Amino acid sequence: MDIRIKDVNLGGGGWDEIASDLLVISLFEGQSAKEAGFGTLDAALGGMIEQVIHAGDFKGEALKTRLLYTHGDAVATRRILLVGLGKQAEFSAALARRAAGVAAQALIDLKLRRLTSVVHGAGNHRLPAATAAQAVVEGTILGLYRFITHKREENSQRATVDADELILLAPTADLVKEMEVGAQVGQILADNANLVRDLVNEPGNYVTPKVLAAQAQALTQEMGIALTVCDEDAMRAMGMESFLSVSRGSAEEAQFIVLEYFPPAAASADTLVLVGKAITFDTGGISIKPNDGMWEMKSDMAGGAAVIGALRSIAQLHLPVRVVGLVCAAENMPGPAAIKPGDVVKAMNGKSVEYISTDAEGRMVLADGLCYSARYHPTAIVDCATLTGSIVMTLSSDLSGIFCNDDALFARLQAASEAAGEPLWRLPLWKPYRERINSDVADMKGSTGTRYAGAIIAALFLQEFVPENTPWAHIDIAGAAWQDDNKPYQPRGASANPMRTLVEFVRSWAE
Ligand code: BES
Ligand code: ZN
Ligand code: ZN
Repeated sequence: MDIRIKDVNLGGGGWDEIASDLLVISLFEGQSAKEAGFGTLDAALGGMIEQVIHAGDFKGEALKTRLLYTHGDAVATRRILLVGLGKQAEFSAALARRAAGVAAQALIDLKLRRLTSVVHGAGNHRLPAATAAQAVVEGTILGLYRFITHKREENSQRATVDADELILLAPTADLVKEMEVGAQVGQILADNANLVRDLVNEPGNYVTPKVLAAQAQALTQEMGIALTVCDEDAMRAMGMESFLSVSRGSAEEAQFIVLEYFPPAAASADTLVLVGKAITFDTGGISIKPNDGMWEMKSDMAGGAAVIGALRSIAQLHLPVRVVGLVCAAENMPGPAAIKPGDVVKAMNGKSVEYISTDAEGRMVLADGLCYSARYHPTAIVDCATLTGSIVMTLSSDLSGIFCNDDALFARLQAASEAAGEPLWRLPLWKPYRERINSDVADMKGSTGTRYAGAIIAALFLQEFVPENTPWAHIDIAGAAWQDDNKPYQPRGASANPMRTLVEFVRSWAE
């Protein structure tokens, strides 16, 4: 999509220059057209906006919209969408992103292609212009996303749904540069989030571990990212028996995908390692899942996909930080050679694990991924995984659970997640529960066999494989990676959460 920032003197006319299919303007609750800076526009429209407000048909309530049709030539665009921003005191970048998502939805519904929008909250609010522009671009591009690859008819019409122009109106000329910077960041983040959504929405027969590795290759080449794919032989040579145990029942070979972004201009020797669970389909294995909702387990690779998208974004933004992405890809199937409850396997760091449920497979691949990260002497490790049903029971789909052994790292991730609009809630690495995975025959059990504190137990398990004295965070995205309902800028299905959080985290590290 072509994105441009246009400096029109909104207060002093200039509306006749806007020739888009749809013009989006926004007002806070209780604002008049004039107070919101649309006095001259309203005058050109013969007072139409004020009339609508006066009639009580538009009050500026958050994300409420009203579509107006212009008449005559005073305004070049035929349609104006009023979008409410709610109470001024409650406004945030998150709301700007959602307002843009609502406008994108209107563009889709009307089958239009060219959009002009004010930058919600810029100019008349404390939000920096770059942040506001980034949020509006993100909300627009994310909001226009549809997964229709496998639909014959809609696919042929796809061009009519895709917008091809977004013009952002800068309230004053001095903000144009700042907005351009923010818009570019937003475009990279949202475009890559949509690529991640594609990977996650694709069914398991289309995205196998090998396909994921090929996609990682295609998406990150010629960007200063070195990619290595370890096949099962290579993993065996490294002693990754825990990881390998997961794919033993599957006809698809496991793949350990290593992405290294070491920019020559790195500001420090710090190395951040991002680890992602990428089970391309999780049947549960021998501990097989019930069929109800099992199809959704095509999204069990969301953590790994987010890591790939994050690395691509980080490289495209030329962030001066060394970052490694480790994607643990495997398919969890029952089969004649499949791992069984009671079986014992050894991870790369020598610790042995007794399987209780073969459905607790994510932690088994991550265990070796975390062990592997030690070779980088990482400054911090962040893993993300659709790890437990327990986190869905606890936090549902708005929040991800985060477990962290370092308060400073947590604070940084929380700030990043807030900037991205992908909220996190911290849960405890409660040491006393560690004994619940004591095993009679091995160094530990993979899971307890009960449902109690499942997400915490899983995090305590992972902690056993984190290199010593290393700040580490584990983000359980089992709820947030997949959305059952349509929301502004988030159609049903894959969300790409927490890709944008990971990138904002690395951006904050670069500053
Ligand atoms: N992939 C699932 C977790 C999951 C559940 C993701 C719902 C998304 C939505 C994971 O591999 C799993 O099956 N976890 C088990 C672990 C248990 C057997 C200890 C769980 O949470 O039930
Ligand atoms: Zn599972
Ligand atoms: Zn799983």
